[in-house]
Amino acid sequence: MTLCNFFEVKSHFWILMVVAIFSVVFVGCGNPPTEKHSSEKPAWPQLQGYEAMPVPLDNPMTEEKVALGKQLYYDQRLSGDGSRSCYSCHLKEYGLTDGKPVAIGAFEKTLTRSSPSLWNVGYHSELYWDGRSGALEKQVKGAWSGGNMGASGKNGAPNMDQICESLNEIPGYHEQFQSVFGGPATPDTVAQAVASFMRTIVATDSAWERFNNGDQSALSTRAQNGWKIFTEKAKCTNCHDGLLLTDLQYHNVGIGMDKKNPDIGRSKVSGDEKDTGAFKTPTLLDVGRSAPYFHDGSIATLEEAVDLMASGGKANKWLDEKNLKDAKDANLSDEEKADIVVFLQELNVNYPIEAPTLP
Ligand code: HEC
Ligand code: HEC
Repeated sequence: MTLCNFFEVKSHFWILMVVAIFSVVFVGCGNPPTEKHSSEKPAWPQLQGYEAMPVPLDNPMTEEKVALGKQLYYDQRLSGDGSRSCYSCHLKEYGLTDGKPVAIGAFEKTLTRSSPSLWNVGYHSELYWDGRSGALEKQVKGAWSGGNMGASGKNGAPNMDQICESLNEIPGYHEQFQSVFGGPATPDTVAQAVASFMRTIVATDSAWERFNNGDQSALSTRAQNGWKIFTEKAKCTNCHDGLLLTDLQYHNVGIGMDKKNPDIGRSKVSGDEKDTGAFKTPTLLDVGRSAPYFHDGSIATLEEAVDLMASGGKANKWLDEKNLKDAKDANLSDEEKADIVVFLQELNVNYPIEAPTLP
């Protein structure tokens, strides 16, 4: 606000300046100087140059709820064996993944898929590689009671209700649940709080966002060249589209299809045979940190991942040839592929969230 106050100084020179750059200053200050109360903007981040994130009517965001959800998200006491929090597999060092080929859940259970990045996940209307979950609130309970967090109620593991009972015995949680939900922790209120927190995992501090909002210099010259090849020549944007770098749709690019019992992906959810081996297009934000790659973590390096995609994916019966044709036909040189890699490496995002103190 110092800039706004500065321009209020009554000097003829400044009045002229104010007239000249009125619109810029007006936008920069956010609100007319007379409205003193309107600095109360939401405490959670929003992507610049993108539609507002949809929030379910029955789970409105409040600062207190987001703060509670954040503690739960970081709390290992939610898991069946006390070993893992949600954050354990969505770590900032690994671009909000776990750096493993496939995730290893509570009770050291090896899962079948790789942890995806959670950047901008509040904009996804369907969750998971196959989109089987229709809302973050449902997804939380799926991850919590399933293999990830192991609150299954089976083989001696506690279930979600029993874990809620323990949470309610912790005074700090008891008070917060009373204040936010007017009642004790239940699987539903825990899921609502954690979902609200996840809606704040928004990639606002990235070169990519600045670049999209007109700051060319946010990316290096080589990265800008890589971006051009990515968008215009190879048309990777047929699927990795827009500010989110994903169309949020499902495509078969051939990963894992040569296995004996391939993961059929989207077709298990849609029941449609032509979705066999199709998975949700991942965002490429922070992809320089999130190796290994693809839904089964089968590709170790970014160079190899780009090579594979630039060659038009791996041939199989259900390959999305229509959208991969441009990449294949572009016949990119090694140098062009290397420029795409540089572009992708500059899609790193700074994670502004500090681990909370737990009650
Ligand atoms: C053991 C590691 C592990 C833990 C712990 C874990 N996750 Fe995940 N997460 C995964 C894996 C693996 C997937 C992908 C599963 C799939 O697609 O079938 C995933 C997917 C997700 C997705 C979907 C992302 C997308 O792009 O669709 C969200 C959201 C998510 N997890 C949030 C959570 C929350 C909330 C918790 C805690 C309740 C949690 N995770 C705990 C490994 C983990
Ligand atoms: C047909 C749609 C489509 C096109 C076109 C496409 N991709 Fe992808 N991309 C996907 C899907 C879907 C996945 C995940 C597939 C899986 O795991 O089975 C993916 C995965 C990736 C990954 C791994 C990301 C991760 O987090 O594991 C990279 C890197 C990538 N693509 C880069 C590119 C590049 C570079 C191009 C252009 C040369 C491109 N893609 C073109 C759909 C596409």
